[in-house]
Amino acid sequence: MNEATPTSAERAEKLQGMGCKRKRVEDIRFVQGKGNYVDDLKLPGMLYGDFTRSPHAHARVKKIDTTKAAAVPGVVAVITAETLKTVNLAWMPTLAGDVQMVLADGKVLFQNQEVAFVIAEDRYTAADAADLVEVEYEALPCNVDPLKAMAANAPVIREDVKDKKEGAHGPRKHYNHVFNWQAGDKGKTDAAFAKADVTIKEMIVYPRVHPCPLETCQCVASFDKIKGELTLWGTFQAPHVIRTVGSLISKIPEHKIHVIAPDIGGGFGNKVGAYPGYICAIVASIVTGRPVKWVEDRIENLSTTAFARDFYMETEIAATKDGKVTGLRCYTVADHGAFDACANATKWPAGLFSIISGSYDFPAAHVSVDGVYTNKAPGGVAYRCSFRVTEAAYAIERAMDIMAQKLKMDPAEFRMKNLIRREQFPYTSTFGWVYDSGDYHTALTKAMETVGYKKLREEQKKRQEAFKRGETRELMGIGVAFFTEIVGAGPSRNCDILGIAMFDSAEIRIHPTGSGICRLGTKSQGQGHETTYAQIIATELGLPADNIKVEDGNTDTAPYGLGTYGSRSTPVSGAATAMACRKIKAKAQMIAAYMLEVHDDDLEWDVDRFRVKGNPERFKTMTELAWAAYHEVPPGMEPGLEAINYYDPPNFTYPFGAYICVVDVDVDTGSTKVRRFFALDDCGTRINPMIIEGQIHGGLTEAFGIAMGQEIHYDDDGNVTTASLMDYFLPTAVETPKWEVDFTTTPSPHHPIGAKGVGESPNVGGVPCFSNAVNDAFAFLGSTNIPMPHDNWRTWMAADKLGLHP
Ligand code: CDP
Repeated sequence: MNEATPTSAERAEKLQGMGCKRKRVEDIRFVQGKGNYVDDLKLPGMLYGDFTRSPHAHARVKKIDTTKAAAVPGVVAVITAETLKTVNLAWMPTLAGDVQMVLADGKVLFQNQEVAFVIAEDRYTAADAADLVEVEYEALPCNVDPLKAMAANAPVIREDVKDKKEGAHGPRKHYNHVFNWQAGDKGKTDAAFAKADVTIKEMIVYPRVHPCPLETCQCVASFDKIKGELTLWGTFQAPHVIRTVGSLISKIPEHKIHVIAPDIGGGFGNKVGAYPGYICAIVASIVTGRPVKWVEDRIENLSTTAFARDFYMETEIAATKDGKVTGLRCYTVADHGAFDACANATKWPAGLFSIISGSYDFPAAHVSVDGVYTNKAPGGVAYRCSFRVTEAAYAIERAMDIMAQKLKMDPAEFRMKNLIRREQFPYTSTFGWVYDSGDYHTALTKAMETVGYKKLREEQKKRQEAFKRGETRELMGIGVAFFTEIVGAGPSRNCDILGIAMFDSAEIRIHPTGSGICRLGTKSQGQGHETTYAQIIATELGLPADNIKVEDGNTDTAPYGLGTYGSRSTPVSGAATAMACRKIKAKAQMIAAYMLEVHDDDLEWDVDRFRVKGNPERFKTMTELAWAAYHEVPPGMEPGLEAINYYDPPNFTYPFGAYICVVDVDVDTGSTKVRRFFALDDCGTRINPMIIEGQIHGGLTEAFGIAMGQEIHYDDDGNVTTASLMDYFLPTAVETPKWEVDFTTTPSPHHPIGAKGVGESPNVGGVPCFSNAVNDAFAFLGSTNIPMPHDNWRTWMAADKLGLHP
C-alpha cells in the first residue's frame, strides 16, 4: 500500500457511519426556520375549521342552534352530529375497540368536548362564529374520580354501552367498566405472600399528564371531487395507519387516500391516534369541495387530545427478611376518560404493563387492571413510553424503595440483591417476557461509583442529624432507580393495531453514482431519523452517510409501516434498514465477483468495497458496483440496486439504565433543588452517540416536568384546571437541571445491528428517580409515599403532615 492510500479505519471514519457523532442533517433547515410544518401549508381556496366546545363535563344536549354562527359573513358551513349522521360519521371507532363521538351526539361527556365545527374563509372568523353556536345543555352529575367510577350510584357515563355485558376486551362488571385484564400467576403469587417474612402495600398513583408537544395536532384535508381522492396532510406519528383507518371509516378506497406527514414538532404519543378534528376537516372538505385546515390551540391540545397515565396502582411486594423479593402483586384502576381511545397494541388493553416486575428476579407476580369510564377526555397514549411501561416502572421503583425502607436496607443495596444477574440472560420474566440481554450489576455499580454514592449517604446522614438538632431546614434526598424497558413493538405474535401486525419497513434505492434514497415506514418527529438511518446504511453499504437521503411520512412513496412511537423506530425500522442493505450488498457481491472474475466466496468485505481474499489490491468499491449495477450486471441478473425489507422482529428489545438523583428540599417552602442527576443508559449498539445524548437530555427534562409539577387536574365539577401553560408545568431552560450521562453497551442478540431503542428510556427511568429522591428526603422521618407531582405546594403539605412546621 502506498502512503497516500487511506487505511480501512480512515475510510470508515469518512463514511460517518454507526458510532459517529454526526451532526443532525435536518437541523440545517430547522435552525433557519425552513422546516415545513402542517400550518405552513397554504392551498388555494383553503378554508379553516374551528370547534364549539362544551363548557360542561357532563350534560345532555337539548338543542343546538347554528343560525347565528352560519349568518356571520365568511362562514361557509357549520357541522353538527346531525350533519355527520348523514354520512354515518357521528361516531368513529377507536384503536382500542371502543367507539367515540366525533361531535356531541345527545350528551357531552367531558369538558371541552367537540360540539360543532364551524368552517370559514379565515381562522379568526371560524373562531368567532364558533362562539355564536347556541347550545342548550342540561347539566348532569359528573364523576372524575376513577376510584368512584364503579360505585353503585355512580353517574352513567356511556349510555350507548350501559347495558352491554361484553366489551372489546371481555366481560364488563359495571356500566362504567371498560375491561379487566390480568397477567401472571395469581395462585403462586398469593402463596408467596402467605409465607412472606415481610410485605408492603402502597397505593402508588401516576397522575394524568399530557405529552404537550410544541406543535399541537393539526391537519389539512383536500378532497378532489373529480378524482374522488382525498389528500390529508397532518401531524401523524403513524401516517399509514391513519390512511387505513381513514379508508375504513370514510369508505374512500385506500389507494385514493394520500396521507402526508411533513415535519412534526414533537409527538411523544400525542399524534398517534385519530381525532374529531381530522374527521371534521375531511367531511368539511367533501361538503365544501375546498381544502380545509384545522389547527388545535394549546388549551384544546391539553384538554382534549391524548392524555397519558392516570393509573392508580395498589402495589404489593413480598420479601424474605434478608431482602430477597419473593412476590409482586398490583391491582390497578386505569382512568380511560369518556371513551376508550387508548393508543395501544390492540390486544393489550393495559399495554405492556406486565413489564412491572422490572429489573428484578421475582419468582411470582400477578397484575389485574380495571379500566373505567369517567367524565374526562379520552386518550391514554404512550407519552414517551412504550404502552404503559412508564406506569409499570414507576410502580415497581417506588415500591422497591418502600420495601427497602421497611427492611431498613439501603435502596441501592436492596436493588443489587434482586437485580437479574448477567448469566440469567436471555431471562424469562415471571410474566413470560424474554429479556434479550443485560448487565445490570455493572451498570448500577458504575453509576454508584461515579456519583460517590457512599459519600452521599454519609453526607445525608449528617444532614439528617443537623436537621434533628434544628441546625438546618433543608433535607437531602438521594433517588435511585433501575429500569428495564420493553421497546420495539413489535413481534406480530404479540402486537397488532386493528389486525395489522406491527412490523416496519425500509426501502433503499442506490443510484448509479453511488448515492441513494431510503424511505421508511416510521415517521420522525424530531428524533433525527434523517441523520441516523443514513448512518446505518453508511456502515452496512460503505457509502458516505452524506450521500443518502432519508425520507418518511408520505404514504404514496414510503413502504407500509406502523409509525414512530414507543421507541420502536430503531428496533424495527432500524432493523429493516440493515436487512434491506444486506440484500443490496449480496447483489453487489455477485456483481463484484463477475467483474473481478472470481467466485462470490472468494471475496471479502472491507469497509466500502469487496476485495479478493489474499489479494487486497483487487477490489471493487461500492460506488463502482452501484455504477455497474446499471450497465454491467452478470448475464441473467436484473439491473438496478435496490431492496425493500418488512421486518417483523423476533422479540422486543430491552434497554435498561441506572439513574441516581440528589435533591435538597427546603421544608419551609417545599422547594426542591436538583443538585445532581446522573443517568447511565444501555441501548445496545449506539448509532449516533450525540443524538442519543440529546434524546436522554430531552427525556430527562420531560421526566423532570412530570415528576416535579405536571398534572392534568380536574375539579369536582369536571373543569380542567390545568389547560394552559400558565397552569401546566412545562420546564424551560431556567428550571431544567444539568444532566450527567454515561453508558454501557450490551448489544441485543436478535437485532441485526444489536441496537435497542432509547428515546423513551430517560422518561421511564427519570420519573421514579426524581420521585424516589424527594421521598428519600423524608423517609427518615417515617414518611413512605409522597405522591407526584412534587411541586412546592405538595411538598410543603407533605412536610406539614409530618409536623415539620411549627
Ligand atoms: O422510535 P424513536 O425514534 O422515537 O426512538 P428510538 O428508536 O429510540 O430512536 C431515537 C433516536 O436515537 C433515533 O434518531 C435513533 O436513530 C437514535 N438511536 C441511536 O442512535 N442508537 C440507538 N441504539 C437507539 C437510537
